[in-house]
Amino acid sequence: MLIAGHNVTAKGLVVHWQGDSRCGTQHHILGRKEPAADAGDSDMTNDLLVQPGDTVAIASDHAGYELKTVLKQELEGLGYVVADLGTNSDTSVDYPDFGRGLAEVVAGGKAKAGVLVCGTGIGISIAANRIPTVRAALVHNELTAEMARAHNNANVMAVGARVTDEATARACLKTFFATPFEGGRHTRRVEKLGAA
Ligand code: RB5
Repeated sequence: MLIAGHNVTAKGLVVHWQGDSRCGTQHHILGRKEPAADAGDSDMTNDLLVQPGDTVAIASDHAGYELKTVLKQELEGLGYVVADLGTNSDTSVDYPDFGRGLAEVVAGGKAKAGVLVCGTGIGISIAANRIPTVRAALVHNELTAEMARAHNNANVMAVGARVTDEATARACLKTFFATPFEGGRHTRRVEKLGAA
């Protein structure tokens, strides 16, 4: 069944979308309406997750290895120092080892943020979210990447190489790191997640 609607993003953009209500289908962003010049988002631009020169960790299992290589280059292009925590080939490995490994690096402060890739993004994000202070968000498009930062203050982005194409994953990554946490009412909610 076709459904449609709109969301207002952290930057005041009105995002119109349309999709199929059945589980597993992606919503397509149809267009954005730019906010008025005085929409008041100027104070959020200093609250980005990372700045150029900061360290961002990246990790994957074998299913995510190829996309990890692409996203690593994207991060370097944005000016971040990238800590590649593996895996380093498409030889089968266990995603919990890499999800937990990256989460411990982020929680320990050796990296300010992280990017995780497995086949679906599900297993590796579950593993990361078991480490306190880590909020790993599984994203599927630019809207979920933006909301993960604006509303959930996610510090790790997870993506599934078998469900998200390369161009979409790159767009998600750019949006994730370009979006500040909105704060306000979302601060209380994020605190309720624990160890915010
Ligand atoms: C590996 O086959 C696959 O299970 C893994 O990459 C991931 O999709 C788990 O959630």
